[in-house]
Amino acid sequence: MLLPRVVAGGLLAQVAVCTISLSIAPAKNASKPLLESFVSYSIEFSSFPDFAGNSTQPNDFSYTLLNNLRDLQGSYPIIRVGGNTEDYATFNGSQSDALIGSFNFNRSKDYPTTISIGPSYFDSYSTWPGVTYVHGFNLGKNGSAGHDTLVGTVPLVCKALGVNKTAYWELGNEPDLFKTSSQGPVRPSWWNETYYVQEWLNKTGLIRQLVQQNCPDVISQGKFKFYSPNFAGTSNSLNMITTWKAGLDADKDIAFIDSHNYIGGATQPGVTLQGTLMNHTSTVLSINKHLNETRLLAYTGLPYILGETNSLYNEGAPGLSNSFGAALWGVDFNLYCAATGIARVHMHQGTNYRYQSWQPIDTVNATKGTKAPYYGNIMVASFLGNLTAGNVSIADFELGNIHQNAYGAYVDDRLERIAIIQLTAYNSTFNGSGSGVAINSKPRPSETFSFQLPAAQVTALKGINVQRLLANGSDAITGITFDGISYNLELEGGKPVKMNNVTSGEVLTAAQNGTISVTLPWSSAAIINLQW
Ligand SMILES: *[C@@H]1O[C@H](CO)[C@@H](O)[C@H](O)[C@H]1NC(C)=O
Ligand SMILES: *[C@@H]1O[C@H](CO)[C@@H](O)[C@H](O)[C@H]1NC(C)=O
Ligand SMILES: *[C@@H]1O[C@H](CO)[C@@H](O)[C@H](O)[C@H]1NC(C)=O
Ligand SMILES: *[C@@H]1O[C@H](CO)[C@@H](O)[C@H](O)[C@H]1NC(C)=O
Ligand SMILES: *[C@@H]1O[C@H](CO)[C@@H](O)[C@H](O)[C@H]1NC(C)=O
Ligand SMILES: *[C@@H]1O[C@H](CO)[C@@H](O)[C@H](O)[C@H]1NC(C)=O
Ligand SMILES: *[C@@H]1O[C@H](CO)[C@@H](O)[C@H](O)[C@H]1NC(C)=O
Ligand SMILES: *[C@@H]1O[C@H](CO)[C@@H](O)[C@H](O)[C@H]1NC(C)=O
Ligand SMILES: *[C@@H]1O[C@H](CO)[C@@H](O)[C@H](O)[C@H]1NC(C)=O
Ligand SMILES: *[C@@H]1O[C@H](CO)[C@@H](O)[C@H](O)[C@H]1NC(C)=O
Ligand SMILES: *[C@@H]1O[C@H](CO)[C@@H](O)[C@H](O)[C@H]1NC(C)=O
Ligand SMILES: *[C@@H]1O[C@H](CO)[C@@H](O)[C@H](O)[C@H]1NC(C)=O
Repeated sequence: MLLPRVVAGGLLAQVAVCTISLSIAPAKNASKPLLESFVSYSIEFSSFPDFAGNSTQPNDFSYTLLNNLRDLQGSYPIIRVGGNTEDYATFNGSQSDALIGSFNFNRSKDYPTTISIGPSYFDSYSTWPGVTYVHGFNLGKNGSAGHDTLVGTVPLVCKALGVNKTAYWELGNEPDLFKTSSQGPVRPSWWNETYYVQEWLNKTGLIRQLVQQNCPDVISQGKFKFYSPNFAGTSNSLNMITTWKAGLDADKDIAFIDSHNYIGGATQPGVTLQGTLMNHTSTVLSINKHLNETRLLAYTGLPYILGETNSLYNEGAPGLSNSFGAALWGVDFNLYCAATGIARVHMHQGTNYRYQSWQPIDTVNATKGTKAPYYGNIMVASFLGNLTAGNVSIADFELGNIHQNAYGAYVDDRLERIAIIQLTAYNSTFNGSGSGVAINSKPRPSETFSFQLPAAQVTALKGINVQRLLANGSDAITGITFDGISYNLELEGGKPVKMNNVTSGEVLTAAQNGTISVTLPWSSAAIINLQW
């Protein structure tokens, strides 16, 4: 469906209008100014060599996609290297391969559950100049295997990253599931917050000694700071507040309170694109669980982040997590996080994962390329803008509708952008199957959103333009553009390419009374840019 036809011929059925009043000064409920690198990634530990390549064969495609985001938000996404496999990986100093993994399909079809890494694993940290990392160390392995892995890897990590590439440190992925993991518990049932904290303090003490011996400048320059405790959620077998009270930060080496989040599970009964992801209420409820923790831990003064998150756990579901609808979910999810004070969001991905933003290499399961969720990441970074240039705060305009929402971005206390997300599913193929003629092959309905701004101030605007996140339907997995731009691999290796079959550079005019209106097809999103 081409946008010009929408505008010119009015081909689309108009179904609803929504109006809200805004002022130019920040809404009272706007967030504090955001930190840089809000749009960040988490890459599965076992997949990191695929994503980054190595010094002989760097993965330039991945680097190009990271550069696109740097060009929008002003700094690179921070890369956390971790996930379940960080706690499976042991170190073998005489192994020449970067990573040797074996699969056990009873435990996971998506990643190896027995993993050995050699010194060349850390060569993958050399391929993306300017990028900073959070390396996830193994906490899951007990006894001498765990101890030897820390002793073997800490010096290699601190030398590979040094002061310039170290963002933060991490020890252990989701220890709140260690007693209950469906992939096999790694701690006894009595292992409560007290024992976890003892172990954390002991092992981070060991890491600190090793860094002091091998890379003293990392410590002297204040770069020995953790993302912690990397819990899976807010209601598992360790409680975040109790953990804090038990002295997790006794050594004052935690910089960010880190929790993880998934909206639901890939094979959970009843999960659908419309009901689970393209559902603003579901996003709100999912994030609000964390807001209680942010409130109760506000006294620490530390920012609260999502260090690993995505749509559906167990690596996402085909037809859901890899669709354009999931890209729209990602925009709503990230902007709701930004508006409610979540300080940074690391979208998780791994090789062949259904919710990945891109597939880094060709495999029998997936073709190398830019995937739908990446376009959502691009829209989020565009909306937040250059976070290193000014103070950006975000407000949730909360339209009170499960299928749509809007957000405002204030730059140095002035409304500069409005984002709108329309989440009513629209299939472009038969039953959302990816091919054939859609059952609903009637005109794509649309919805008009009007924002009432103070008329006197609107006359001071130099211009208003619109950038749209578009695809043929929520079920589309290809043909996605933001502001008419494709980042697909097959065009220019992931660099932005202007498509001539989609409109861009769309201009709006405000009515004399200060109303700005924009019409969105179902299953699409847009940014209104106010040019002061
Ligand atoms: C570097 O990556 C290439 C391509 O994956 C691989 O063939 C090579 O063995 C890697 N080098 C090392 C030292 O792991
Ligand atoms: C972001 O802002 C900083 C500070 O003004 C500037 O140096 C940098 O070039 C900007 N980056 C981009 C990508 O616009
Ligand atoms: C780290 O960054 C600083 C400042 O940009 C630079 O002077 C220094 O050479 C870098 N160090 C390494 C090891 O790249
Ligand atoms: C953990 O268990 C030990 C031994 O039962 C107990 O002394 C301690 O209070 C428990 N810690 C918490 C936070 O419940
Ligand atoms: C950690 O615990 C071990 C044994 O319980 C002890 O030998 C070691 O000194 C502790 N390390 C630190 C840094 O506290
Ligand atoms: C949207 O999500 C909420 C919360 O999970 C749920 O109660 C509701 O049924 C969902 N709506 C639809 C249309 O599925
Ligand atoms: C948040 O905390 C309040 C009390 O402070 C409690 O009533 C509510 O159930 C909590 N919500 C969640 C989602 O945990
Ligand atoms: C990947 O492809 C292989 C070979 O076709 C298959 O056995 C495996 O189940 C696939 N993995 C996933 C996660 O679909
Ligand atoms: C935040 O403030 C705006 C502007 O006053 C208002 O429209 C919106 O409903 C508020 N958001 C929430 C979540 O209350
Ligand atoms: C659209 O596709 C989804 C699957 O993605 C399917 O559940 C739904 O019934 C389809 N709707 C229509 C109207 O075909
Ligand atoms: C534009 O062209 C690309 C490839 O040529 C295609 O994938 C995409 O679906 C087209 N977009 C529209 C809106 O027709
Ligand atoms: C503002 O003007 C537009 C266009 O003339 C009109 O549709 C709208 O109803 C007006 N709004 C108000 C609040 O007067």
